Amino acid sequence: MKPNLKKFKIPSKKTLPVDDFIEKILYEPEIGYYSRKDPFGKNGDFITSPTISNLFSEIIGIWLVSAWEKMGKPKIFNFVELGPGDGSLTKVIISTLKKFPELNKAIKIYLYEKSIFLKVIQKQNIDNKHIKWIKNFKSIKKGPVIFFGNEFFDAIPIKQFSNINNEWFEKCYVVKNNIDVIEKFVRSKKKDVAQIMNFGTLKKLKFIEFPKKGFLELNPIINKISELSGGILLIDYGYLNINNSNTIQAVMNNKRISTRTMLKNLGNADITSLVNFNLLKEYFLKNNLKVKKIVTQRFFLERMGIIERAHILEKKKNNVEQIYMKETLSRLLEEKQMGSLFKVIFGYKNKNNDFFGFE
Ligand SMILES: C[S@@+](CC[C@H](N)C(=O)[O-])C[C@H]1O[C@@H](n2cnc3c(N)ncnc32)[C@H](O)[C@@H]1O
Repeated sequence: MKPNLKKFKIPSKKTLPVDDFIEKILYEPEIGYYSRKDPFGKNGDFITSPTISNLFSEIIGIWLVSAWEKMGKPKIFNFVELGPGDGSLTKVIISTLKKFPELNKAIKIYLYEKSIFLKVIQKQNIDNKHIKWIKNFKSIKKGPVIFFGNEFFDAIPIKQFSNINNEWFEKCYVVKNNIDVIEKFVRSKKKDVAQIMNFGTLKKLKFIEFPKKGFLELNPIINKISELSGGILLIDYGYLNINNSNTIQAVMNNKRISTRTMLKNLGNADITSLVNFNLLKEYFLKNNLKVKKIVTQRFFLERMGIIERAHILEKKKNNVEQIYMKETLSRLLEEKQMGSLFKVIFGYKNKNNDFFGFE
């Protein structure tokens, strides 16, 4: 049965760019995908690295310790998790940092989450005495700040543009009779075209995906890093070589579904897109952040010692637990699983350039 789109407050016959349309489908209060269900884990629609294995989150915690050391062990050190999902990562980070008392005293942990529904789940899952949920970064006034997001950037809807006979058109959706969704290309706004053409990474393409909303989210983050020093570590499903493709994908019950099925199941499927890592790098550089070499998730986790850590933990586990740990580790590291599809980027402002995980 097709959904009645009235619930999403999308007026009939209104032409909405792809990013505005998807945002409503994902976040419309009470009815949007992220506004009414916990999509994570085996019984949800997808599994993310922190929900696959605590080892992933522990390694991010260890990286955080190393970044604090590289920054000269400041007495105040801020950590902001962007889009924390069900709170799995920060929960593990809190317990990992207990083993590092000096940093544990210095650290202030913040969670930045758009979905009111997920905030409730995060509050249930995390011992939140020492954590603040924030809507912007104004309350972070002192000390370097590290922002971290796993599958944060790919969850922010993108724009899509197509060049037809040397003219740019934007992909939009139109809702008919509150039920049918029809794809339509409309002439692009001049200021959007001007913005896109500013990026060397996008030159020569005939089909462009552009994270306008994602960049708007990054602006206050970059400003905070420029003001206080620190950086942003992002891990996402993404690519380096661009090839004019439509990368928007939908997942329901742990399976990829077609655009047609997605349009029939609006509000019941997660919708993401692949992150263009070279474009992200160009954006950081344009905004005066330095950027470490973009590496795969496998490279980063191995450099940070995930295999050695797994060997230590293995000794304390029974046979069944050992097999489970091996399986989850290979999901994180195997080339054909998350190992190379997921990439890691670190944009930063600091005197020291020698951060672990990238060389
Ligand atoms: C794909 S989930 C990833 C969750 C978690 N990081 C993980 O790896 O399990 C995306 C998360 O980002 C949040 N999110 C998406 N757009 C956001 C925005 N503009 N501001 C804050 N949170 C956002 C979602 O609500 C959700 O918590």
